[in-house]
Amino acid sequence: MAVGVMDIEEGAASLPGKTTFQVVMCSIIAAVGGLMFGYDIGISGGVTSMDTFLLDFFPHVYEKKHRVHENNYCKFDDQLLQLFTSSLYLAGIFASFTASFLCRRFGRKPIIMSASIFFLLGAILNYFARDLGMLIGGRILLGFGIGFGNQTVPLFISEIAPPRIRGGLNIAFQLLITIGILAASFVNYLTSTMKNGWRYSLGGAAVPALILLIGSFFIHETPASLIERGKDEEGKKVLRKIRGIDNIELEFNEIKRATEISNKVKSPFKELFTKRENRPPLVCGTLLQFFQQFTGINVVMFYAPVLFQTMGSGNNASLVSTVVTNGVNALATVFAVIMVDRLGRKFFLVEGATQMMATQLTIGALLLKYLHLVGPITSHAVPLIVLILICIYVSGFAWSWGPLGWLIPSEIYQLEVRTTGYFCAVAMNMVCTFVIGQFFLSALCRFRSGLFFFFAVMNVIMGLFAIFFLPETRGVPIEDMAEQRWKKHWHWKKYFKQN
Ligand code: BGC
Repeated sequence: MAVGVMDIEEGAASLPGKTTFQVVMCSIIAAVGGLMFGYDIGISGGVTSMDTFLLDFFPHVYEKKHRVHENNYCKFDDQLLQLFTSSLYLAGIFASFTASFLCRRFGRKPIIMSASIFFLLGAILNYFARDLGMLIGGRILLGFGIGFGNQTVPLFISEIAPPRIRGGLNIAFQLLITIGILAASFVNYLTSTMKNGWRYSLGGAAVPALILLIGSFFIHETPASLIERGKDEEGKKVLRKIRGIDNIELEFNEIKRATEISNKVKSPFKELFTKRENRPPLVCGTLLQFFQQFTGINVVMFYAPVLFQTMGSGNNASLVSTVVTNGVNALATVFAVIMVDRLGRKFFLVEGATQMMATQLTIGALLLKYLHLVGPITSHAVPLIVLILICIYVSGFAWSWGPLGWLIPSEIYQLEVRTTGYFCAVAMNMVCTFVIGQFFLSALCRFRSGLFFFFAVMNVIMGLFAIFFLPETRGVPIEDMAEQRWKKHWHWKKYFKQN
């Protein structure tokens, strides 16, 4: 099992050391992995709504889209078109599982480097794609890039960051995801009117990949990974560099101790799934990611342009609308970075779920009333109102289930199973993203506005889950989580032997 600063006692918060230029640079470079992930999330929807892309690869969808009396809700319903978006996540699940082992054996740096190379190759293949095979092959390579990156980058940042700014840096990864999404929607807007514009949009993924590839030559391997692989002296050298002090013995010993405990656990997966005490964080951490996806966020992220077009907006207007919603996403994440340690996790989770539930209900009701099976939408104001509602919805996600879906699973596990537990959260994210990506357009066709009511109900359930089942983790030292929270929780306490 990989072990890291994430795995060190919270007493480490008082470890000596400065926030050095090295740490900031290494973290920013690694977080470009988030930019890659975000660019991909943001690019797919715009591309699948571009006429030239549809004509080249999905001519039947193009025809359907332009048939005036075609069922409004089914214009884009096509399993292959959806496979274009979702194939990446299938590859991602496999890749992040593989990465969880490889980064223990070879260190974080080579895995981050490989992530950028996979992503670069995927971008190149997609740029030159002549048929669906090349297109999907490219997506699979991108999926490897994202699986490797998402499993390793947050771990890398947590290991390299001084404990006291670890939470903030963790959410900064999400911030880069949202900046990637925003940049992608802007690129789509620019390329949508160009001949073969989709090639530039897909090929543009090479830019964050190249930045990460070049940058990864300059980052240090994490001390935890070096020490874990028996390279103690090298580990000490890096610690001195990134902490900017000579006296690093205390932190070195903490890492050494954490490594020894975790190395005793030979099969972290078995430990995670069979030991009763691990059940509460396992259930809560993976459910958080399940619910994160069933807020319906990726319906908006992947298919907002398609959705706006379904409501009758022109190509251009729908891409502008997407830039606007993605801008709101990034700004609201900044708010989360600042406020999440002040107002607490639960407050944001419940508030966010309520805000998303209310907007989903209203969007569902508007579509039910105004978007009939055939013909254009019967009110001009409705697309604008839906745009505003989607912005309110996205901001609700961006300061709650978005960042917290990643942050909380990183702080609730016991030392021995923390990175394995974190993998389960990443895998749940990828599985659910795949499901949404693959089935949303078909579900929209079949259930129409009812789909928005479904997501509204999911938001009620997740709000209740946050209220009744999730302990508040703000300000609780990681190693005291069991004592201070799980053992005192009305439901989860029964998983612990009381002493
Ligand atoms: C989620 C992605 C989502 C993004 C939107 C991330 O936390 O995991 O699925 O597209 O947020 O900002």
